[in-house]
Amino acid sequence: MTSNLDQALALLKAGELVGIPTETVYGLAADAAQPLAVAKIFAAKGRPNDHPVIVHIAGKAQLGDWAIDIPDDAWKLADAFWPGPLTLILKKQPHVSYAVTGGQDSVGLRAPKHPLTHELLQRFGGGIAAPSANQFGHVSPTTAQHVRDEFSTESVSLILDGGACDVGVESTIISLIGPQPVLLRPGGVAREAIEAVLGHSVEHVQNASSASIRTSGLLDSHYAPRTTLLTGSQSQMAAAAIARAGQKLAILHTEAALPQDGTAMHILMPDNADEYAQIIYATLRDLDTQGLDAILLVLPPDEPDWLAIHDRLSRAAHQKTRAV
Ligand code: TXA
Ligand code: MG
Repeated sequence: MTSNLDQALALLKAGELVGIPTETVYGLAADAAQPLAVAKIFAAKGRPNDHPVIVHIAGKAQLGDWAIDIPDDAWKLADAFWPGPLTLILKKQPHVSYAVTGGQDSVGLRAPKHPLTHELLQRFGGGIAAPSANQFGHVSPTTAQHVRDEFSTESVSLILDGGACDVGVESTIISLIGPQPVLLRPGGVAREAIEAVLGHSVEHVQNASSASIRTSGLLDSHYAPRTTLLTGSQSQMAAAAIARAGQKLAILHTEAALPQDGTAMHILMPDNADEYAQIIYATLRDLDTQGLDAILLVLPPDEPDWLAIHDRLSRAAHQKTRAV
C-alpha cells in the first residue's frame, strides 16, 4: 500500500498539484522545476501570472541550488530561523523559471518546519513552489478541510493532512536583494528577532507601489472573508453595531469584560498574539458560513507582537477605521 507521502511525491513528479501543511498556513504545491505544473497553481487559484510564488526547500543546504550572490545576512537568517516561518528573497539562479518568480530575477525561498512537509521535501530533493492554498484574495487555509473547501478534487486530488497550523499566519518575508534588508511582509518571525540576528534595524515596506515589487500579499485587498468585514476601535464597532441594528452581526474582540448588549454574536478572541494568529483565519472562515450581514472586528492593541495580525486584518477589511 502506498502512503499519502508516496502518493504526494508521485503526483508532484507527474506535474500535478498537492495540498501541503506548513507551520504557517497550508500551501498549494507543485514541482518548482516544471513551469507547466506551476502554471496549474495560478489557474487553480485564479491568481495573476505576474505574482511570484515561494519555493520551499528542505534546508539551507539547498539555498545555493536556487539563489546566487547570497549575502551573509541570508546565511545568518537561515541559520537562526530555518526550518521556520521566514522567506528570503534573493537573486535567482538562471535556471529558476519566470513562471515561479512572476517574471522577476529574484526568488523567494523558505524551509518550512512542519514535519510532514519537511519529510516530503527531503524525499523530493528539489524545490516545491507553493503559495497559500486559497482562491486569490481569499482567507488563507489553516486546516486540510479549508483547502478542500477551496478547490475541486479535479484540480487538487490530494491534500496531505498535517492537522491545524501552529503559527496560523504566513511567513515573514525579507528581501535581501537591495543594499539593505527590507521587511516586505510581517509574519511568523518577529521583526525584532530578525533585527537581533542581523545586528541592525530593518525597514518595513508597507505597500506594493513603494516596494516596486510584485508581492500579492502586499495588495491592499487580500486575505479577505466573503462577508463584509469592518475593523476599528471598540467604540467605533459599538457605533457600527447600533447603525446596523436589525442586521445579523458578529463582533470579534479580546475584551472579556465587554458588555454583551444588543443582538450581535460576541466572539471572544485570545488576548495573546500567538494564540490569536493561530485561530483568526479559521474564525473568519467559520463566520463566513453563518449568513451574517457583517463582521465587526475590534482591532487588537497596536503593539509589536501584533504586527503581522494588524497587517492581515487591515488587508482583509472591507472598511477600516483606524483605532482611536
Ligand atoms: O507562510 C507562507 O509564506 C505560505 C506557506 C504556504 O509557505 N505561503 C504564502 O505564499 O503565503 P503566498 O504566495 O500566498 O505569499 C507569498 C508572498 C507573495 O506575496 C509573493 O508575491 C511573495 O511571497 N514572493 C514570492 N517570491 C517573491 C519574489 N521573488 N519577490 C517578491 N515577492 C515574492
Ligand atoms: Mg496567499
